[in-house]
Amino acid sequence: MNSRFFYVRIYRWNPYLSLKPWFNIFPLNINDVNHLMVLDLLFFIKNNYDSTITFRRSCREGICGSCSMNINGINALACLKSFDCKFSQFLTIYPLPHMLVLKDLVCDLTNFYNQYRLIKPWLIQKKNNSKNWENLQSKLDRFSLDGLYECILCACCSASCPSYWWNYDKYLGPAILLQTYKWLIDSRDSAQKERLIFLSNSIRISKCHGITNCTKVCPKNLNPAQIINFLKYFSKINN
Ligand code: SF4
Ligand code: F3S
Ligand code: FES
Repeated sequence: MNSRFFYVRIYRWNPYLSLKPWFNIFPLNINDVNHLMVLDLLFFIKNNYDSTITFRRSCREGICGSCSMNINGINALACLKSFDCKFSQFLTIYPLPHMLVLKDLVCDLTNFYNQYRLIKPWLIQKKNNSKNWENLQSKLDRFSLDGLYECILCACCSASCPSYWWNYDKYLGPAILLQTYKWLIDSRDSAQKERLIFLSNSIRISKCHGITNCTKVCPKNLNPAQIINFLKYFSKINN
């Protein structure tokens, strides 16, 4: 029986305690936790060692995007990230970097969602739709949304972008720009001009410097760095 220990280091902060942030280190028996997903590991610790540890989660299936955190230095979804104690004896978990922390591993995403609201993330149609016709789309037009509609707004990409870290109040960041592109090229939408005016000549998009951390971390294997290039090009030729 292997009784080696495995160490999980978790960032902690509680706004109701007048303490600086600290780490808790949990030595766990490898036989109890090997091959668990990080989210299950957090539940194991919460249920067996410290019920006050706080983190977000909902679907447990990589769909809702709420369990995003920084796991061994990389932004990821805790419910999709497994680990193997054979390869490392340590696991360090932080909240998403450069976000305001509400408690432990829970970040404040208000700014992120306010930026999402700014891009009007819904279909805008100028035709009178009083007859309630269907929004038909060709297969090709539908195909052009692949690689975009899968985004679950987990913010892993934006929280890995140094340019977003320093300009989070002005620059939209990779997640919101990817979403912008999705609405822009949707053949059923008729507000392309307004959407381009919103982006034109603005720091909202120009602060992307092609660093590509966003693409490296996306848990849905999307390519926001490339999409931002498309968006810049699209914006240039249409303005
Ligand atoms: Fe998350 Fe990927 Fe969407 Fe960014 S592009 S919010 S990393 S799913
Ligand atoms: Fe940031 Fe990705 Fe651009 S990491 S600078 S958004 S390519
Ligand atoms: Fe929903 Fe992880 S819990 S994405």
